[in-house]
Amino acid sequence: MSSNSSIDFKGRVAIVTGAGGGLGRQHALALAARGAKVVVNDLGGARDGSGSGGSVSAAQAVVDEIKAAGGEAMANGASVTDFEAVQAMVKQAVDAWGRVDILINNAGILRDKSFAKMELADFKLVVDVHLMGAVNCTKAVWALMNEQKYGRIVMTTSSSGLYGNFGQSNYGAAKLALVGLMQTLSLEGAKNDIRVNCLAPTAATRMTEGLMPQEVLDALKPEAVVPAMLVLAAQDAPNRTILCAGAGTFEAAHITMTQGAWLGIGPDAPEQLAARLAEVTSREGETVPQSGAAQGTNEVGKAMANAKRG
Ligand SMILES: NC(=O)c1ccc[n+]([C@@H]2O[C@H](COP(=O)([O-])OP(=O)(O)OC[C@H]3O[C@@H](n4cnc5c(N)ncnc54)[C@H](O)[C@@H]3O)[C@@H](O)[C@H]2O)c1
Repeated sequence: MSSNSSIDFKGRVAIVTGAGGGLGRQHALALAARGAKVVVNDLGGARDGSGSGGSVSAAQAVVDEIKAAGGEAMANGASVTDFEAVQAMVKQAVDAWGRVDILINNAGILRDKSFAKMELADFKLVVDVHLMGAVNCTKAVWALMNEQKYGRIVMTTSSSGLYGNFGQSNYGAAKLALVGLMQTLSLEGAKNDIRVNCLAPTAATRMTEGLMPQEVLDALKPEAVVPAMLVLAAQDAPNRTILCAGAGTFEAAHITMTQGAWLGIGPDAPEQLAARLAEVTSREGETVPQSGAAQGTNEVGKAMANAKRG
């Protein structure tokens, strides 16, 4: 199979959060191998976010690996939940390399339990790391990217958020929140060539240990997700896509809206809706709205068309 122009990141500066292991490490290695200067962030905690001693050693090991391969990188041990530390990380990158072109929001933890058994503290912590962590990092580069008139931001979402997964109500909610964040930031960033996209990976990492049989884990090398990240971080990146990747297979997820039906607001509207629910939810002619305004436009449009008819 032949490829078109090669994707390279010479002169680009990237921050990858949670890059001390798993997917983040592969992202950092790949960006560096293609010429980016990379801030390898990781606080070095356990899978559930405990034991976060601000250990920079996991990140440093990845930096050493990048340097040994002839690349440029620096380690950072900030927790993405600490906005001041995140701002200092961005300053560290700008002081050394003058800009930040790419932000890969990848850091994450798990606190799985059925919702019935889940403590609210475990819900809040997961939301804090995934959602607020990405918000903090994005906020810390946003003004800079606007000034530069260039930015590529990848939010790491998950099939658990997009489609649900038993025992992951906290994680799923946080992950789909990142899609919502992406939807609006992709609109707000467009005028200054800031492109924001989501990546939904499937990979065998410590996060998936014990969740899948070994032969499946073998197929799901984290490296197999990296091409999707590179495309979303590239100069020619799309904007506002949700790219899914695992085992070398790539898909996209879409948030769609059906055509629906105008039923009016008469006293029997609930009964009409119940009777015509199949029509309202029918996927025939569904669209992927380009902004939230599309829903109101469709609703009012149908109401006006009906008023004219009536
Ligand atoms: N592995 C999968 O199949 C899968 C599926 C969907 C989404 N994801 C997402 O991909 C991302 C990477 O996950 P992974 O599978 O490589 O897991 P991982 O546990 O190997 O990597 C996550 C990294 O984030 C770091 N981290 C955690 N909290 C942090 C914080 N507050 N600040 C900075 N770093 C922090 C950890 O130290 C760890 O190195 C996560 O966002 C995860 O939710 C993974």
